[in-house]
Amino acid sequence: MSIPVQSEGSVATKGGVAPGETLLKVTGLQKHFPIKKGLLQRQVGAVHAVDGLDFEVKAGETLGVVGESGCGKSTMGRLITRLLEPTGGTVEFQGKDITHLGVSGMRPLRRDMQMIFQDPYSSLNPRHTIGTIVGAPFKLQGVSPEGGVRKEVQRLLEVVGLNPEHYNRYPHEFSGGQRQRIGIARALALNPKLVVADEPVSALDVSIQAQVVNLLDDLQQELGLTYVIIAHDLSVVRHVSDRIAVMYLGKIVELADRELLYKAPMHPYTKALMSAVPIPDPRRKNAKSDRILLTGDVPSPISPPSGCRFHTRCWKATQICTTTEPPLLELAPGQQVACHHPENFADQAPQDTVLLTAAKEAEKLLGETALQESAETSAAVAATLAEESAESAVEAGEPTEPAAESAPEAAEPTEPEAGSGEAK
Ligand SMILES: Nc1ncnc2c1ncn2[C@@H]1O[C@H](COP(=O)(O)OP(=O)(O)OP(=O)(O)O)[C@@H](O)[C@H]1O
Ligand code: SF4
Ligand SMILES: [Mg+2]
Repeated sequence: MSIPVQSEGSVATKGGVAPGETLLKVTGLQKHFPIKKGLLQRQVGAVHAVDGLDFEVKAGETLGVVGESGCGKSTMGRLITRLLEPTGGTVEFQGKDITHLGVSGMRPLRRDMQMIFQDPYSSLNPRHTIGTIVGAPFKLQGVSPEGGVRKEVQRLLEVVGLNPEHYNRYPHEFSGGQRQRIGIARALALNPKLVVADEPVSALDVSIQAQVVNLLDDLQQELGLTYVIIAHDLSVVRHVSDRIAVMYLGKIVELADRELLYKAPMHPYTKALMSAVPIPDPRRKNAKSDRILLTGDVPSPISPPSGCRFHTRCWKATQICTTTEPPLLELAPGQQVACHHPENFADQAPQDTVLLTAAKEAEKLLGETALQESAETSAAVAATLAEESAESAVEAGEPTEPAAESAPEAAEPTEPEAGSGEAK
């Protein structure tokens, strides 16, 4: 796709952070919404919507964020764009701490970080024309594009694949996909560096979703944008993300390069999410379902479970999972995981622990195929990792001893196989 050239000097200049350098850094980010009751509005508790996130977004990359409804994705998006005030932790943008900047402090930064909202029906004012909506950021920021706002808005409409002559039309005259394009045009108006797209296609028909995702991808290539794209399932972010963060109950449970995440997910929750992504393979048309069905409801973020928050639904949960929270550790290059008994990797628990009864029940819900596949993938990936480390040791001229030592250890079956034996 060819993007019409931006009129010279029209918007804030890019720069500051070179591609690959850290644009956004989040440390221990928290948002607890207070729950108040009674006449005196005393605080009786808090919704732990976001509960300690650590991640970085590099300039020019796309970070996909996935997780079930209510896990805190939108809250995270609003915190990093500072539409919400964090309860704890820090947000750094271009090396500057912006955690507690006020409205005036944030104003110049608003040009650099924009948000695309989930619902293209409610996020556009029905009483304003498209020209007014897309041109609003210029007015708010007091920016006068060269050639005038109208010319620049028409250019932006063209950029997102809309007819510039529709400048005077109203939102109701557009389809859902077109409205989302209008939202994208508005977000791009001030030539931002970071765009946080909160479920940009979930309100759209499947046929239109791909078009909008491809548009975002094209715009990134042409304009050098950095994205955080939020979605509730992996299929949306699959093709556009460089890295993917999987969230569960306000925490990141796995953060990995896209390829690694799809090839060998390590967190059981990621594996469950992954199994819900349909694979368009005609050979598997009549195959038995191998979806991992998670038991139980998502626990309340008001009183999240102790230890690992996923333990109430995890088929691999052991005693340690109920008491000790697993830290997010880099278990493989480019793959951080918070789990005591990760898939495709040696067990992280300090000693043998007993599979919980709830986990045994959850396990029964796993399709036979899923268990078989889990066993095969674990063994295959462990073998590949061992092979690769042996090869790299040879290439580096190192003695092959350590790799050979690690191979049997890595090839050991991981917990689910052991667990499944116990449970039967
Ligand atoms: N302003 C608020 N006041 C109180 N609780 C809130 C507020 N905003 C969000 N929450 C709660 O915080 C939790 C996380 O909400 P959030 O909207 O971030 O989830 P989400 O992952 O974006 O969900 P969805 O996929 O449904 O959009 C939910 O339990 C929600 O009810
Ligand atoms: S194995 Fe334990 S630590 Fe890992 S996801 Fe399951 S409950 Fe959490
Ligand atoms: Mg949301």
